[in-house]
Amino acid sequence: MQHPRCDQSPTWALLQAQYQASGAAFDVRQAFATDATRFERWSFEAPELFVDLSKNRIDAPTLALLLQLARDCGLASQRASLFKGDPINLTEGRAVLHTALRAPAGSAPFSDEVQASLARMLAFAESVRADDGITDVVHIGIGGSDLGPAMVVQALQAFTDAGRRRLHFVSNVDGHDLAPVLQGLNANRTLFVIASKTFTTQETLANAEAAKAWFLAQGGTDVGRHFVATSSNTAAAQAFGIHTSFGFWDWVGGRYSLWSVIGLPIAIAIGADAFRELLAGAHDMDEHFAQAPLERNVPVLLGLLDVWYRNFHGFTSRSVAPYHQGLRRLPAYLQQLEMESNGKGVDREGQVLPYGTSPVVWGEAGTNGQHAYFQMLHQGTDVIPVEFIAVKTPHHGPHVQGALAERLQDQHRKLLANCLAQSQALMQGKTVEEALNEKAPTASASLGRLTVARHRSFPGNRPSTTILLAQLTPRSLGALIALYEHRVFVSGALWGINSFDQWGVELGKALCSSLLPRLSSGDVQGLDGSTAGLLKRVLG
Ligand code: F6P
Repeated sequence: MQHPRCDQSPTWALLQAQYQASGAAFDVRQAFATDATRFERWSFEAPELFVDLSKNRIDAPTLALLLQLARDCGLASQRASLFKGDPINLTEGRAVLHTALRAPAGSAPFSDEVQASLARMLAFAESVRADDGITDVVHIGIGGSDLGPAMVVQALQAFTDAGRRRLHFVSNVDGHDLAPVLQGLNANRTLFVIASKTFTTQETLANAEAAKAWFLAQGGTDVGRHFVATSSNTAAAQAFGIHTSFGFWDWVGGRYSLWSVIGLPIAIAIGADAFRELLAGAHDMDEHFAQAPLERNVPVLLGLLDVWYRNFHGFTSRSVAPYHQGLRRLPAYLQQLEMESNGKGVDREGQVLPYGTSPVVWGEAGTNGQHAYFQMLHQGTDVIPVEFIAVKTPHHGPHVQGALAERLQDQHRKLLANCLAQSQALMQGKTVEEALNEKAPTASASLGRLTVARHRSFPGNRPSTTILLAQLTPRSLGALIALYEHRVFVSGALWGINSFDQWGVELGKALCSSLLPRLSSGDVQGLDGSTAGLLKRVLG
């Protein structure tokens, strides 16, 4: 079924008018001053999560129009197509069924295959966990075959038996990634997992070949036992010399694949039961996305806010600030999820889009980001919506006891205070008058008081969202990741794009293949001036 693109809906012009009439001048401080219930009205529950939208530039009439826009674009029917397994990845003729990977047995397409694959992968993970002969697992993959597993294993560190086994992730073709990982490893006590959906990715194959050569040079004797693959191209894995492969299907996109056998390192790290909890948390969020009314559907609300900010306010970026050190790779993971999915310039019919799509997604763990780029968020010339992610109760691990436990608990209060203070400061700001009334101890004597006050004032009214988890567990992390997946689906559905292909990475890959031999031959014939000049420099 054809669904209208957001700008083809009559509601688009109404939203433009709404932006001109009140959206552009909307002041969150004013909104709180006139509505004592704003926090209650603009905060929402979803499985495992509480989401506060109240500090955003949004009001009820705007939301009503955005919801109408979603209906005009057939969001509910597009969502149904996703869950049903229609081939919504049009340019590759594929279904998009990551939700089926976490659905209970019998409740989604391909259930038998999914359950069998999951059981086999989890049994293997448990056998690795029980094998005291394996002290190190090196996972080699890139993009979707790296970012999800690496992020989740880091986030769930407290749930791993880290003392028994180390997990390493190698992704970059740069040997500076692999070399330090191999240092100090014992070949006969190491398991290599080669993760590549296609098993053709240059970086992954180069690292896998290098790892195999190292393994053999170190006296490694049994490639079959020490190398396994997670791939939908098991024939290529076999040609590499791998006997144990965990296959999956073309309807699992790379950036949506951590729920499949690509999650093997996660299962090795946290065990089968906890992996099932991760899936269950994601499934809970799938149910919420599939069933909750649009006006209380958290992925829908976040996706609509993304459209409002990107296409009407013109905000080109969004910053993610996880206030949990374990989530420090979440921004990198979200960069692929959001920017590879929605960084598109044509609609499903190939027509050039007259509006912006994916914002730049970026960020750092709090509080580190505060001491780096938050200056710009507070006083810079661009408005950048910020997404704070906070965890109520920390889980420092069983080795943290007694006085240390008390100290770290106190540090957690400091962490939360910082998180709340940042969103408060972004919204509140500080007027020049308020700054004038402050004592400015460091001001140079040559500067007038007003000048100093201007430097020390903040515009405020800078929007932010806060996502609160009770604890960071496999289940809550599963729900959080699925929330982001569905939010990306929502904005992509309204923009009328295919969120599930990634042709934008192909040109660079092709040019790299044709440049590679020139790095040996030095031949620069036919190259543009800059590339020829740089190549000569590199070789000179
Ligand atoms: O960067 C392009 C891409 O195709 C991603 O979408 C994918 O996650 C990554 O490369 C790795 O691909 P593969 O798993 O096939 O090695």
